[in-house]
This record gives sequence, C-alpha cells and structure tokens, in this order.
Amino acid sequence: MPLRWRDAMDRALYGPAGFFVAGAGPAGHFRTSAHASPAFAAAVFRLVSRLDAALGFPAPFDLVDVGAGRGELLVALATLADEAAAPDTAPSGTSPPPVPLADRLRLTAVELAPRPPDLPPAIDWTTEAPTGITGLLLATEWLDNVPVDVAVPTETGWRYVLVDPSTGEETPGPPLTEVDQTWLTRWHPTSGPGGRVEVGRGRDLAWAGVVERLRRGVALGVDYGHLRRARPAGGTLTGYRGGRQVPPLPDGSCDVTAHVAMDSVASAGARVAGCAYTLMSQREALRALGADGGRPPLSLAGTDPAGYLRALAAASAVAELTDPAGLGGHWWLLQPVGVAVDALMAR
Ligand SMILES: C[S@@+](CC[C@H](N)C(=O)[O-])C[C@H]1O[C@@H](n2cnc3c(N)ncnc32)[C@H](O)[C@@H]1O
Repeated sequence: MPLRWRDAMDRALYGPAGFFVAGAGPAGHFRTSAHASPAFAAAVFRLVSRLDAALGFPAPFDLVDVGAGRGELLVALATLADEAAAPDTAPSGTSPPPVPLADRLRLTAVELAPRPPDLPPAIDWTTEAPTGITGLLLATEWLDNVPVDVAVPTETGWRYVLVDPSTGEETPGPPLTEVDQTWLTRWHPTSGPGGRVEVGRGRDLAWAGVVERLRRGVALGVDYGHLRRARPAGGTLTGYRGGRQVPPLPDGSCDVTAHVAMDSVASAGARVAGCAYTLMSQREALRALGADGGRPPLSLAGTDPAGYLRALAAASAVAELTDPAGLGGHWWLLQPVGVAVDALMAR
C-alpha cells in the first residue's frame, strides 16, 4: 500500500525488520566521519576538553551520542579520556580539574538499534535522550536519517508524494497540512512546477527535542545539508547499500537518507535553547580544533622514517575529513546552553 515518504522511511529504517535496527549497522554500508578516521574523535575530544573547562569540570560530565550507530564514537572518546593525563585535560590558562575527566564521564548512547554485545558496560544504552544533560550532546549523521516527507507542486497546490515500499513507485497523495505548508513557505521557497522538495519539519522537531534535554553545555549536530539560499533542486533523497549509492527503495534493504535543511533545524534548536547557534563547515571546525591536515616536514623522513610515515598517514586521514567536496563540506551545528561557543572553537 502506498505511504507518505515519512512513514515509509520510518518503517524501512526503524520498523521490526528495519535497515538500522536489524542490519549490520551503519559502518557496514557507508562511511561517516566517525568511522573514517580516529582524527575525528580526537578533534571532538579536544572540544570535550575545552567544554569541560568552560563548564568548571562538572561531575558528572555527560557525553550523550544520539543516533550512536554501534557506539563507536563514544568508545573512542572514552579511550581518549582514559589516555589523557589529568593535568593535560585543562586547556592552557585554566587550572587542571581536581578529578580527571575519565572519572567524571557519564556516557550515554541513544539508539534505536539493539545494544551491541561487546559494548563496554560503562556506556548506557537507551532509546530516549536523558534530561538535565551537563556536557556535550552529539548527533553525527543522525538528522539525515530522521524521516522526511516529499512534496510536489500540482495544479491544486502542494501534495505529499506517496511511495509503494515494495516497488518504489510514486503517486501524488493528499494536500500538505497547514504546518508543513507553512514550513515550506518559510524554509523552502522553490522554483516552480515539477520541482519536488523534502519537507524537513520533522528534523526541526527532532533537533529541538534533544536540545531541550541540555541543562548546560553544547549540542553538536554534524551532517550533510543545505541552506535556504541554495536548496538542491529536485531534492536529495537517496539510498546506500554495501558502500554504494542506490535508489531509495523504502523496503528495509538499504539506508534511505536526505540532506538536512541545516538553517531550519538550527533555528528550531535556538528557539528552545534561548540562545544563538553557530554553523560552520567541518573543515573550519576541525581546523579550529587543531586538525589541520598539514603534511609533516620531509626532513623528518631522514631522522625518523617510521614517525614520518605515521604523521603522513595521520595527515591524509585529516585531509579526507576536511575535503570541502566530501566530509569537510558537512556542517557542524553548535547549539550552546549557558556557555560561549566562540571560545570553544577558537583556533
Ligand atoms: C547514519 S547512522 C550514524 C551513526 C553514527 N552516529 C555515525 O556517525 O557513524 C544514524 C543512526 O541513527 C539512529 N537513529 C535514527 N533515529 C533515531 C532516534 N530517533 N533515536 C535514536 N537513534 C536513532 C539509527 O538507528 C542509526 O544507527
């Protein structure tokens, strides 16, 4: 039976046999920043350390990962915290924490997929973000998988597109509700007949819903997306399976994803938080956090060949994360509550 795309996507990804809850996990099908290189976790950890100091070394410091996949990023961040010597966790100019961060970390993975059997017991696994978070709430490549509706203009106004989950065949459905129509007018002024669009209101609600769980700290959303001035014509809905881009068939056999309207999501979060957001490219963000991708000096090859090769491998990993045509073009949306982002992201 044909369904609205939002419902088809929800069932295909998160239903009983859904792609994300029953399958191998995201890393088996596509490459996110969190999987691409440990340099990503290292940069996020730098942000964690700066935020920890800005918050006055709270106990506990919450690290919450929404859409945590199989918990890979949280495991990497916990390992970095364990490795960090206590005096080094304080950025210069601040006193070191009385208790090392590793001993104050409270780790929570928010995920609809089942808990992986080998996950360290210190990581709590839940389907709902906790309330009263003090620390960092992460959502890397989560919002692009929050279900969206697709709409098309017709002679009688905008209508939802219905899709047959087993064949992918599409037909025009009922008219847009008033709230979706209002969202479209505000956030997706569009080019005229024939153009299909994705209605991102559900992502706004999802982001606002996690931002409101933050008592003090930062919510960081990292995703591919677009701004109002340049929404891609015809939309971005697509599928991924086994590392390849495929048509977005909502039958549970592949990921179904669409780029995120970052400014609309950001504005919904800022309304809830009551303070301004910061939006920057991943390239800018990683540079601000000390990952610049610079190649090691050639002279190192003569004095320390193994060190040179290690540094070269690290530089090329960072280059992948900061490539403006790839992962470096992803957006970092930083929503602060009770702290200033400028100081956290200063180079
Ligand atoms: C593309 S994966 C990203 C995984 C990981 N964050 C990364 O960057 O590699 C999106 C994940 O979000 C999860 N997810 C989607 N909606 C969710 C929700 N409402 N609550 C919890 N997890 C959700 C999916 O199950 C999936 O594992």
